Amino acid sequence: MTESLVKPIIEVKGLGLGYDGRRVLRDVGFQVNKKEIFIIVGSSGCGKSTLLKSLIGLKEPEAGEIFYRGVNFWGQDEASRQKLMRGFGVLYQGGALWSSFTLQENVALPLQLYSDLTAAQIRETVELKLALVGLSGYGDFYPAQISGGMCKRAALARAIALDPEVIFFDEPSAGLDPVSSRTLDDLILQLRDTLDATIVAVSHELASIFAVGDRVAFLDAESGNIIAVGDPRQLRDASRDDKVVQFLTRGSKEPDNDKKSG
Ligand SMILES: Nc1ncnc2c1ncn2[C@@H]1O[C@H](COP(=O)(O)OP(=O)(O)OP(=O)(O)O)[C@@H](O)[C@H]1O
Ligand SMILES: [Mg+2]
Repeated sequence: MTESLVKPIIEVKGLGLGYDGRRVLRDVGFQVNKKEIFIIVGSSGCGKSTLLKSLIGLKEPEAGEIFYRGVNFWGQDEASRQKLMRGFGVLYQGGALWSSFTLQENVALPLQLYSDLTAAQIRETVELKLALVGLSGYGDFYPAQISGGMCKRAALARAIALDPEVIFFDEPSAGLDPVSSRTLDDLILQLRDTLDATIVAVSHELASIFAVGDRVAFLDAESGNIIAVGDPRQLRDASRDDKVVQFLTRGSKEPDNDKKSG
């Protein structure tokens, strides 16, 4: 393996973020490697969405830097940053689709706005993306005509319309039943492999964290900092931090909680 293959795709250094003079995050630093599924966790209000906003270009940091493949993201002029942002796919908390557009129209939108594809090529690409998320044949449906889990998957099809190198998710499985949630987890794994994408997600669903997370980072509300980063199972079994262990073992009353029954 050559050096360049193991270089991190995202590098965050000394990041400080806040609102109206109130610091939410202080001196946050971490790296994400190519094709990794990196999950950010922490209590409600600790700053997970705020961190994500900064990573995707919606909120400028008050301190520190974010590098994508070594390029200082917030050090670029607006146009260059926008160009980098084209390489991101984003699924927001809530994952809203345009309700007055069909699924086909929703997925086509970023392609119409940001690609040079012809109408026929766009149609073809939209079909392909809908197929990737298991929604072939649903192109003419409106969001209100399909289930919550299907809406999430359609929003995901829209997020991957432009073949992003990095996909960001804010609480992908929030509001989904366990089966839909597992379908989405499988899909995330599949997309990482078919698109060669790197995935950064905010999640509090333990099942998802253990099912898809390569590494998990704990944001601590009190210090505004990351207090642990690592393989979720290793952290669960070996972390010395009570907050981390508590989070990763919460609700695990049944002894065989995360073992497969065969
Ligand atoms: N636009 C805003 N203006 C002022 N304060 C904000 C704004 N957005 C978030 N905050 C505050 O910043 C802190 C972090 O919020 P953030 O939404 O990042 O938390 P979170 O970890 O994503 O929470 P949750 O798990 O509930 O989604 C909270 O105290 C919140 O009240
Ligand atoms: Mg949030």
